[in-house]
Amino acid sequence: MNKKVFVTRKIPDLGIDMLKAKGYEVDIYPGDSAPTQKQIIKYLKKKPYDAVVTLLTDCIDAKVFDAVPTAKIFANYAVGFDNIDLEEAKKRGITVTNTPGNYSICVAEHAIALMLGLTTRMVEADSFTKKGRYKGWSPNIFIGSDLTSKTLGLIGAGRIGEKVAIIASKGFGMNIIYCDIKRNESLEENYGARFIPMVEEVLREADVVSLHVPLLDSTHHLMDASRLKMMKKTAFLINTSRGPVVDEKALVKALQEGVIAGAGLDVYEFEPKLVPGLVKLSNTILTPHIASARESARNEMARLAAQNVIDFFDGKIPSNKV
Ligand code: GLV
Ligand code: GLV
Repeated sequence: MNKKVFVTRKIPDLGIDMLKAKGYEVDIYPGDSAPTQKQIIKYLKKKPYDAVVTLLTDCIDAKVFDAVPTAKIFANYAVGFDNIDLEEAKKRGITVTNTPGNYSICVAEHAIALMLGLTTRMVEADSFTKKGRYKGWSPNIFIGSDLTSKTLGLIGAGRIGEKVAIIASKGFGMNIIYCDIKRNESLEENYGARFIPMVEEVLREADVVSLHVPLLDSTHHLMDASRLKMMKKTAFLINTSRGPVVDEKALVKALQEGVIAGAGLDVYEFEPKLVPGLVKLSNTILTPHIASARESARNEMARLAAQNVIDFFDGKIPSNKV
């Protein structure tokens, strides 16, 4: 019998075509916006699916696994996999995969764009100009700050953090300091990055702090009120990882009170909701979780998700098993 695959939202054809080329029966959730867990369960109960391709907006836990006991692989179309209850999956012998492809450069570029956006004040200035408020050159408007020669503090120097460091080091001559559970020797040898075992020390020294950790129990609210206070008053916080790594309420307060200079965020604690006060701040740049929104990245994610399913059905261990 042909394998049956359910995909919880339309993803690039490249991935769907790969699955179909293997002769699998592929059903795609028809809606444009994220299905609720109830809707996912309703669809999954329709057929004995063998695999499910999920998105980061899907909450995949025991209830979903119960709805489709035939599915032994859940291939997440994302780098992050905090939307899936891994422990529950493990208990049931379900394989979970993610898509950590070479498109991590997109996320790194986005993090750098947020940094530059804050230091050049480009977003505020753009809005000022478009509102017709530019009345003539002035030495006193939109005074920004330099990135060049400043210190970048990375919390997490894996695939994405490393690329941020390379751009920052090669492009802006930034000094790189980082903490991680693993040392990144290549970053140390090739870019002079300095490993600092304590998060707190990185926060005290850095002019820009950029978060590149997965969301785990141990990283939830890693940036809380007390850690934000350890940052320099002139420092910026960049988050392109997962929203709950930052206590967003504490961040709003820190930004309002000038505890730190600004923040560039692509992810939010209660996504898509924003904590009250956040949008009113001028020292923030807020993007709607788009750091990997490039055709190249989306295609690569679709290819990897499909390949993980194919490898699994071919009896191999998928390359991106988590
Ligand atoms: C996006 O946030 C991803 O995890 O791929
Ligand atoms: C995080 O997802 C990383 O790969 O650094």
